[in-house]
Amino acid sequence: MASVPSLASTVDQRIADALSAALPEAGAADVLLRRSDRADFQANGILALAKKLKGNPRDLAARVAGALSAPEVIADVEVSGPGFLNVTVADRAIVETLAARLADERLGVPPSPDAGTTVIDYAQPNVAKEMHVGHLRSAVIGAAVVEILEFMGEKVVRRHHIGDWGTQFGMLVQYLIEHPNELDRSAGQSTGSGASAAGEAAGEAAMSNLNRLYKASRTLFDSDEEFKARARDRVVALQAGDPETLALWQRFVDESKVYFYSVFGKLDMEIHDEDIVGESGYNHMLTETCRLLEESGVAVRSEGALCVFFDDVKGPDGKQVPLIVQKSNGGFGYAASDLSAVRDRVGNLGATTLLYVVDVRQSLHFRMVFETARRAGWLSDDVKTVQLAFGTILGKDGKPFKTREGETVRLEDLLDEAVERATAVVREKAEKAGLGEREIEENGRYVGIGAVKYADLSTSAVRDYKFDLDQMVSLSGDTSVYLQYAYARIQSILRRAEGTAAPVPHPEVALAPAERALGLHADRFGETLAEVAENYEPHKLAAYLYQLASLFTAFYDQCPVLKADTPEQVENRLFLCAITARTLEKGLALLGIRAPERL
Ligand code: ARG
Repeated sequence: MASVPSLASTVDQRIADALSAALPEAGAADVLLRRSDRADFQANGILALAKKLKGNPRDLAARVAGALSAPEVIADVEVSGPGFLNVTVADRAIVETLAARLADERLGVPPSPDAGTTVIDYAQPNVAKEMHVGHLRSAVIGAAVVEILEFMGEKVVRRHHIGDWGTQFGMLVQYLIEHPNELDRSAGQSTGSGASAAGEAAGEAAMSNLNRLYKASRTLFDSDEEFKARARDRVVALQAGDPETLALWQRFVDESKVYFYSVFGKLDMEIHDEDIVGESGYNHMLTETCRLLEESGVAVRSEGALCVFFDDVKGPDGKQVPLIVQKSNGGFGYAASDLSAVRDRVGNLGATTLLYVVDVRQSLHFRMVFETARRAGWLSDDVKTVQLAFGTILGKDGKPFKTREGETVRLEDLLDEAVERATAVVREKAEKAGLGEREIEENGRYVGIGAVKYADLSTSAVRDYKFDLDQMVSLSGDTSVYLQYAYARIQSILRRAEGTAAPVPHPEVALAPAERALGLHADRFGETLAEVAENYEPHKLAAYLYQLASLFTAFYDQCPVLKADTPEQVENRLFLCAITARTLEKGLALLGIRAPERL
């Protein structure tokens, strides 16, 4: 494992050296290196420096340029505009840097210097309920962020804060007591991947059972006062930890997990049992959480409820809207388990960052939870709290996503349709790519699921986006299919170049403009990832990869690879193909998207 300094940082360093040699009076000045349309890089820092030194910026820039002696890295430097330095990197430096990247299993990407422990709360569906598109977003974005953070050296603890507690379980358990055989189902297990057909069938059976039970118990609850009373008593028994009640509640949880695993399996995503710590997992802490809040005065009783107030959180009537930690009937709500989870994640799991991948509509809740936890002393200044808030998935018409009949869209239907469309796209090209039926089906899944994930990850999370399958599986444009095809095309070129097992770089060969552009962009992978990890912005990784694939397309159009002029040039271009492929594959993997070898 060897980190490779990016060309930007090498150039930056060389200019800084020249600057202190030419202008020792400047001290440690920032050269402010930027990417530029005019040259490979532009250094802008001399302008500010000239003000400080009361000198002519163009003269100072010329002195710095004159002091540069790094021909192996910088091929050309010229003073431009009011006193910028335009830098052209040596072709040799591009190839050598990329060669070092290709030789490293991490592509030379250095781990983050200030890695800590992030507890990430994502993929949190609700027990006994169907998953919806919002749960899809949390799972897809969360999984990508997990991969990216781990790659950058962060310790990541996953928490799936499923909704597995609350008054509705009184109703469900009571119904099951009165209709004991209703949850029986022959197939299925509660753990393991649902990627198999059996897993999917079990998942569907589980959900349809739960749905039926939910509807039936709801109907009874709404129509039968006596049942309602028994259901209410059942909530009390559940909260008091009555073993029979808990055992039945557990069956709902297990049954739901069969369904969750089947959907996550379809999404080609791994979820582990030990990371599923739902609301019920904090049950034993709730009383103490409330006591601590009340004793410290952070929370106060108001009309019987335990509340936390905020100066700036007011309703339309101008009255403060509190965070309710305990209801007046003694019941604990969503906020109590979230506050207890903060205590657990910081106190027991050692989190330095608490990250929540949750719908933007819950932003106020999290703001109040974080603020309450800070007031209570459960969050020191060393612990960062972030809600990675995401927007809504809209239908093609720009309205919240519904079926033609106006019902919420079932997640599995949506994934199935994506795979179906993608399989059709793959099939069209299958003959040319030499794919058999098994590969067509497998690629159809990778392309379809990749398309769904990419659509979700390629726009900034907080923005709403339109779910448009036609656009998502299109071969041209900013789609995962386009990236996957670029990867497969490169692999096919590399396969055709028999005899070059490991493509050999030739730093002495001059590069064409399209080769330079591709090479310079490939070199930015590490910098891009650092930025993406810093601000939890997978869409910037998607944009980076799309540009990489676009630059590859331009390179491929302009620079014959196997038919290049000299054998060295052929090898050098194969080498550029190889680094592009490795970068694409790694980047896609971080987004949770597979890159088939043939497509
Ligand atoms: N289960 C919740 C929902 O479906 C999301 C949970 C978010 N996480 C949390 N710690 N509150 O809306």
